[in-house]
Amino acid sequence: MKPLFALALAAFVTIPALASPELAQKKNCLACHAVDKKVVGPAYKDVAAKYAGQKDAADKLAEKIMKGSSGVWGQVPMPANPQVNAAEAKQLAQWVLGLK
Ligand code: HEC
Repeated sequence: MKPLFALALAAFVTIPALASPELAQKKNCLACHAVDKKVVGPAYKDVAAKYAGQKDAADKLAEKIMKGSSGVWGQVPMPANPQVNAAEAKQLAQWVLGLK
């Protein structure tokens, strides 16, 4: 039983796609966002489509996730998210950009 458990654990830890939705949940992003529909902020799939193919998109969005954003998607601004550090912001940005 033991080696199997270790294997399962290793698989869980090495797949970042599993952790990102939970991070978004934990950091309160999902209070304003959903993956495939507009809530207060844009659907994450729409964000991914908008920045598809832009090389610096992950860094740009990570910055906006931390500091806030306004005027890109409409009248409602996104407040800064000081509960998110740089590494977490980058992970969330990459997750959003990878959604289809
Ligand atoms: C209070 C509501 C709210 C919360 C909480 C929130 N957002 Fe947003 N978000 C918005 C709104 C509104 C916009 C559109 C802002 C604009 O038009 O520039 C937005 C825009 C974005 C964008 C696109 C920015 C751009 O320049 O295109 C990303 C990516 C994003 N949010 C990610 C996140 C993440 C990750 C979190 C959690 C750490 C989060 N948001 C938390 C409301 C929110």
